[in-house]
Amino acid sequence: MKIRKRLNSQEDTYKLAKIISEYIFPGMIIGLSGDLGSGKTTFTKYFAKEISVKDVLNSPTFTILKTYKGKLDLYHMDVYRLEGIGYDYELDDYIYGKGIAIIEWCEYIDIMLPKDILKISFKFIDETTRDVIIEGSDKYEKIVEEISDRYSD
Ligand SMILES: Nc1ncnc2c1ncn2[C@@H]1O[C@H](COP(=O)(O)OP(=O)(O)O)[C@@H](O)[C@H]1O
Ligand SMILES: [Mg+2]
Repeated sequence: MKIRKRLNSQEDTYKLAKIISEYIFPGMIIGLSGDLGSGKTTFTKYFAKEISVKDVLNSPTFTILKTYKGKLDLYHMDVYRLEGIGYDYELDDYIYGKGIAIIEWCEYIDIMLPKDILKISFKFIDETTRDVIIEGSDKYEKIVEEISDRYSD
């Protein structure tokens, strides 16, 4: 299932993260794409807060991966620097780990990801507005349905 939603403010982005946070499970993978400044890290911060991560979540751009403790472990990746790198086996432990993997620029490591992930693409509309395309099948289908029902733009 694939839906499009308009986020009119950061509050809407928070609401989206909150809904998704209600459906977490070990091994969950959320792939984020969209240009710089489109809202990937902002979404991740809200999501982290909702799963009770106490540490401050920063953009991991220079480290590729940062891990956090919450209701489930959170593995926050920004794989921008891995474009064209092929397969980085060191990330497998996290992508296929027991926590939740959130991957910014997920399209850069497509070949490392399973087919079944929750994908969110952010598009900058104006200063406060973003459009998101949310896509998920199998394990994630229900989450997309839930967002579709509960979030009306
Ligand atoms: N609706 C919105 N959703 C997410 N971020 C927004 C929104 N409106 C404005 N912003 C701002 O846009 C910027 C997004 O930056 P960031 O989340 O770091 O993007 P990315 O990680 O995609 O590069 C932040 O400064 C945030 O405050
Ligand atoms: Mg970012």
